Amino acid sequence: MRCALPKPTHRWRKSHEAKTAPLHLAVQSAAESVAAVSRTGKIGGVLLQIDHVSLTFGGVKALTDVSFDVREHEIRAIIGPNGAGKSSLLNVINGVYTPVGGTINYRGQVRERMHPHDAARTGIARTFQSLALFKGMSVLDNIMTGRTLRMRSGLLAVALHIGPAAREEIEHRKVVEQIIDFLEIQAYRRQPVGSLPYGLQKRVDLGRALALEPQLLLLDEPMAGMNLEEKQDMCRFILDVNDEFGTTIVLIEHDMGVVMDISDRVVVLDYGCKIGDGTPDEVRTNQEVINAYLGVAH
Ligand SMILES: Nc1ncnc2c1ncn2[C@@H]1O[C@H](COP(=O)(O)OP(=O)(O)OP(=O)(O)O)[C@@H](O)[C@H]1O
Ligand SMILES: [Mg+2]
Repeated sequence: MRCALPKPTHRWRKSHEAKTAPLHLAVQSAAESVAAVSRTGKIGGVLLQIDHVSLTFGGVKALTDVSFDVREHEIRAIIGPNGAGKSSLLNVINGVYTPVGGTINYRGQVRERMHPHDAARTGIARTFQSLALFKGMSVLDNIMTGRTLRMRSGLLAVALHIGPAAREEIEHRKVVEQIIDFLEIQAYRRQPVGSLPYGLQKRVDLGRALALEPQLLLLDEPMAGMNLEEKQDMCRFILDVNDEFGTTIVLIEHDMGVVMDISDRVVVLDYGCKIGDGTPDEVRTNQEVINAYLGVAH
């Protein structure tokens, strides 16, 4: 039997606001609406526009004529059943896959495809559904790999402390240490990533992506496999990244409580087609979305 989605609890956003809102706002009864208004006010113009994008793998249509936009400073969720094309869409945005049709307009520049190097150079970073970390390397060194594009001397020279690279390394390490502090993983900085619990590994993966100092951050199921406490932590970090650094975020997530609570707008895919797009409330009451996705238990 299909069941309706429970009303969002707003537990994630509430805890975040309690942490970041000025005290005088936190004690006002209207605090939540004031915070919501100021957040909405921060959302800017269109940063990324995907227009009629299609992608195929042999006979498989991974994406069919998908269009949607992402506005500056927005948290934009992508939801949909397994195999709906969510990860493929992120891979089109960061240039790993080349669409067979459609265009990508990023920061006003229209292209038929995004090259991975251009994507990273123009400030698009991503985390992965299956972790892509160097398990034997320390937390610090893994996050350092995210700085590669910002290094003038190259990762190897920096790692070997050769010439000016030694000075550069100090600058990069400073940024990496700030990220480590921000993500509250100081205690693990020298530990091999493979020895950490899964939730912390996901946090390191976020740190690696943040090391690029991205303008657009693509998160592919950052909370998958986490327990409730780890999810709450990750939600707080995502909201903090968005608030404190002004980073625009595209987020794939299956936990509907999280999606409804932290996203500004949601796009829904099913079998590679877009079947819904709007605010969390609009999407959760969209009958096609309920039939295809929300009606089943998650
Ligand atoms: N590299 C690939 N080669 C062939 N087919 C692929 C490839 N990547 C994805 N697909 C196919 O494209 C479709 C969309 O897959 P995708 O991984 O984008 O879905 P998803 O929405 O991210 O699913 P999930 O929720 O399981 O992660 C699926 O049918 C999948 O099998
Ligand atoms: Mg996926």
